[in-house]
Amino acid sequence: MNKHTVTFPGGLTFTVTAGTTLKEIMNDAGINFDFPCGGRGRCGKCKVLLTAGAGEPTAEDRKALSAEELAQGIRLACMTKVQSDLQVEFLSEKNVSHQILLSGLDRTAKVEPHLVKRYVEVDKATVEDMRTDWQRIKDGLAAQGSDSKADTARITVIRDVPDLLRSARHKITAVIHNNEIRGLEPGNTTEKLLGMAFDIGTTSIAGYLMDLYTGKELAVTSTLNPQTQFGADVISRITHVNTDPDGLKDLHRVVTDAVNTLLGEAVAQAGVTRQDVYAVSVVGNTCMHHLFVGINPRDVALAPYVPVIAEPLEINPRELRLEINPAGKVFVLPNIAGFVGADTVGVLLATELDKSEEIKLVVDIGTNGEMALGNKNRILACSTAAGPAFEGAQITCGMRGASGAIDHVNFASGVDYSVIGDVEPLGICGSALLDTVAGLLKTGLIDPRGRFRKPEEVTNPAGRKLTDRLISYNDSPAFLLAGGEAGSRPIVVTQKDIRELQLAKGAIASGIRILIRNYGLEVEDITEVLLAGAFGNYLNPHSACAIGLIPPELEDRIKMVGNAAGAGCKLALLSTGEYRRAAVAARNVEFIELGSDPAFTNTFANAMLFPDME
Ligand code: FES
Repeated sequence: MNKHTVTFPGGLTFTVTAGTTLKEIMNDAGINFDFPCGGRGRCGKCKVLLTAGAGEPTAEDRKALSAEELAQGIRLACMTKVQSDLQVEFLSEKNVSHQILLSGLDRTAKVEPHLVKRYVEVDKATVEDMRTDWQRIKDGLAAQGSDSKADTARITVIRDVPDLLRSARHKITAVIHNNEIRGLEPGNTTEKLLGMAFDIGTTSIAGYLMDLYTGKELAVTSTLNPQTQFGADVISRITHVNTDPDGLKDLHRVVTDAVNTLLGEAVAQAGVTRQDVYAVSVVGNTCMHHLFVGINPRDVALAPYVPVIAEPLEINPRELRLEINPAGKVFVLPNIAGFVGADTVGVLLATELDKSEEIKLVVDIGTNGEMALGNKNRILACSTAAGPAFEGAQITCGMRGASGAIDHVNFASGVDYSVIGDVEPLGICGSALLDTVAGLLKTGLIDPRGRFRKPEEVTNPAGRKLTDRLISYNDSPAFLLAGGEAGSRPIVVTQKDIRELQLAKGAIASGIRILIRNYGLEVEDITEVLLAGAFGNYLNPHSACAIGLIPPELEDRIKMVGNAAGAGCKLALLSTGEYRRAAVAARNVEFIELGSDPAFTNTFANAMLFPDME
């Protein structure tokens, strides 16, 4: 038997025996393609373009296709038997195999959505064919290939069958997840299959509307987490749950309302509808995870800090009141521990720590700092309460990284700074606080314990030029960073602010040291430090190392990876393979409870000190 080569989009190539049909090749290869009449040459819907090797059209081709289409090389895939080498192009983007591209991360993944849509022209019942309606739907789907097979459905779907078949003249689209027909729609709706990934943070929520065929991002929306009305941090929200009989309901309702609002904004931006959205993926810390799905997070805050559930959850949208297509599904990523949640799993997925040959350290810095260290053989993770200093909160002139915030400070010659939005400075954000303290250390204006030196104690020549900026502010020693001229508000860094930063950086640095020690490594064994999260993306790596937040030996190995939790959430939405990997990675991570490490108190006390820069 002669063999021929058939090449599909993306370079996917198969060598097959002459006479094999394109439908057989595509079904065997698991290529997502509709054969609405089951490949009998009747519906004329399985068109492909043969850019090389198109032979004589079949009788079915001639009946279904125009003369112009035939001349271009368009043929019915179910009727095309391979008789020479063929080059196949798809006419619809949904059939093309796509890669997911993530900015800031050198990686791609294949788009493989959780749900598939199949257009099918269902056989009509006759005296000779008395199969049930349901059986004819299932048979029509099964004829399209192995990934279209479905056996089960909720009764609500089956109840709609008689009316739907009649009104849609037996032309319907099935929405399938695993083995289940989750919905039946009239006509051919296969062109639209969208999903939305949500990163639910304690402070803010970000949503990404994605095309589940192409992996393209169609819209991005975000909002403050409205749960802040019940408390700024995780603990105060858990207290609300514990003290108010409606507490859990309140917190669950406001977060799902916010997700529905973001969904509405995103579909409006993209010019689509909520009904086009069939999948939602969610990451968040363990408390946010529990509150989103409506589980009481009480025990997350009590020793030994155990989550109610760590496995991935697949939930019907109606059970969460999510306003997407009811045939859709919500995929919630797994947790690792009470304070290492699904957001960290998203970070692991995006950074591929679980596949790495080399030892890497991943640090996601926020109000809580989550850290993971390891490679494909072993990963240790921990969490630490860094407090709000990195986000500019509880700092005398602190503010979020918004317009008017000083975001970077340079002590190379005098004191230079940049302001977000290029406007008059209103305050400083976390990255500028880091830069300032690094500069104060370098110039000897503060000592390694974080104490402001008196002007007469400063011996560093660069520092001596700045002693006029050492002022008293509300009876506390402070450094005048900007303003202070007649009528303008001084922007200062006070002794208390430095203490706040020491607590925050001590928490992260001690977590890193304990992970390294428990792993049995030396700092030099770490080949890369991946900084995730909004703050991690803005900070100056040199300043982070200068104050000892990250071990100074690793300064040239730091890489910013942006919102890796959100990126991981998108991956889990777009790719079933990545979603499954998330579950395995979460199960295999070894969690280290820092509070129970005997060396923690000493390590933390030491980590609060600054490196001696002089
Ligand atoms: S003509 Fe219907 S599947 Fe090919």
